[in-house]
Amino acid sequence: MDQTRAPYFQALLDYVDAGVIPFHTPGHKQGIGLDPAFRAFIGDNIASIDLTPMPGIDDLLQPTESIKEAQELAAEAYGADRTYFLINGSTSGNQCMMMTAVNPGDSVAVPRNSHKSLLGSLVMSGARPIYMEPEVDESLHMDHTIAPETVERTLKEHPDLKAVYIVSPTYYGVAADLEAIEKIVHAHEKIFMVDEAWGPHFHFHPALPVSATAAGADMCINSTHKMLSSFSQTAMLHQQGKRVRVDRLEAVLKLFLSTSPNLPMVASLDVARRQMATEGAALLSKTIDLANDTRRRLNEIEGVYCFGEELQGSPGVFDLDPTKVTITVKNLGYTGYEASEILRRRYNVQVELADLFNVVALFTMGTTQAAADRLLLGVSELAREDRAVDIFSPSGVLERRVKTGTYRLPKTPPMRMLPRDAFLADTESVKFKTSAGRICAEVITPYPPGIPVISPGEEITKEIIDYLDLELRAGVHMQGPFDKDLKKIRVVKNLT
Ligand SMILES: Cc1ncc(COP(=O)(O)O)c(C=O)c1O
Repeated sequence: MDQTRAPYFQALLDYVDAGVIPFHTPGHKQGIGLDPAFRAFIGDNIASIDLTPMPGIDDLLQPTESIKEAQELAAEAYGADRTYFLINGSTSGNQCMMMTAVNPGDSVAVPRNSHKSLLGSLVMSGARPIYMEPEVDESLHMDHTIAPETVERTLKEHPDLKAVYIVSPTYYGVAADLEAIEKIVHAHEKIFMVDEAWGPHFHFHPALPVSATAAGADMCINSTHKMLSSFSQTAMLHQQGKRVRVDRLEAVLKLFLSTSPNLPMVASLDVARRQMATEGAALLSKTIDLANDTRRRLNEIEGVYCFGEELQGSPGVFDLDPTKVTITVKNLGYTGYEASEILRRRYNVQVELADLFNVVALFTMGTTQAAADRLLLGVSELAREDRAVDIFSPSGVLERRVKTGTYRLPKTPPMRMLPRDAFLADTESVKFKTSAGRICAEVITPYPPGIPVISPGEEITKEIIDYLDLELRAGVHMQGPFDKDLKKIRVVKNLT
């Protein structure tokens, strides 16, 4: 196919050129009815292609014209049999993959450190998660990926599994051994799904980890908006092979995606694919070089550590995406949250993620040398500050626990009910601190990285309460809980 084409973007341009008189949605009618200040700011071009599906402008839910061709071009570029454009991120990709692969009550092996959208997919599908524990890196205080041996053991222990779902890469750019896992999963004749939200660029550069499509995943998802140039919320779902029922997948997509997709968003997927297919390798080479150079310079700053190739081969670290620069600041006496806040306030630098020990800076085709220099300046000045390590956290609790080795990511709590049953059960609100023993009815997720510490259906343990208390004191932003300060928590109502 001709990868220099962007058929869907062209279809929108043709409509604008034709000067059609719009008696259709959206109500702003190509910008005329927009709030004037908003219109002046965003400009008329984008408003003019904010249209609705109609003949000549294909329908995302039933593509027969330019979207069909655009999706076929994307499938070819990614080496998939079929690609579907998504307009509610990899969040909807996870939902649609799971709704396709499993029936209510089916078991699916999933990493415990999955993104919370996986939880949504379990609630929707009624599947039973069999959690696989990721390899944990205590010194960086981070989960890596699932080892192939863990997948093999899980499949042996649970022969009734219907599918295996893997997240690779992690938010920190650590990739799993997808090719080894694919062989294991398919030898057991199960469906293999990959949440590759953070790896939409992998397929286009040999220095990057192997992509999920190249590794043979039956279905995988990419948040195209995260690392490539399409608009926020856009993503792709790729499918290949015969293990997945394509009619079911397409029925699910038709049921769950909006009937009013934002067409500039869809067009941005079409052109992001064209950009990657035609100049991806060159653009990514520049990005990788800039990220590697910045990592090297950051590592020259005393007290700063940015992991790289030396980590490769350790448990759960099969390969690395160099474009994610994880800056470990704990030896500077800062939490990642503090470092992130100072970098923003003093240097106008906003990182993608902060956790207790680290901040993560994303490098993409849009990152300039000047931006990298500014990040370096901020971090080097942070490192120069005379900072007593005992103010690591306001209460000193964190530092004490790190020193005594009692600071650990909590163990997975016991699952007492299916996520769907607990999420949809009658609930009551109780004091969080004394909730040990109750069944959680909500998803409690420090964000970012968006990985739940406790999910619906799991028993609240003392360890979970202590851990979340510590995270809250360290300044984490909690996503999910009904009470954002987590003074109360929603639990399944006692039947007695
Ligand atoms: C691993 C993973 N999967 C899925 C998602 C959801 O992606 P999106 O924001 O595109 O809906 C995220 C978001 O951060 C993620 O980290």
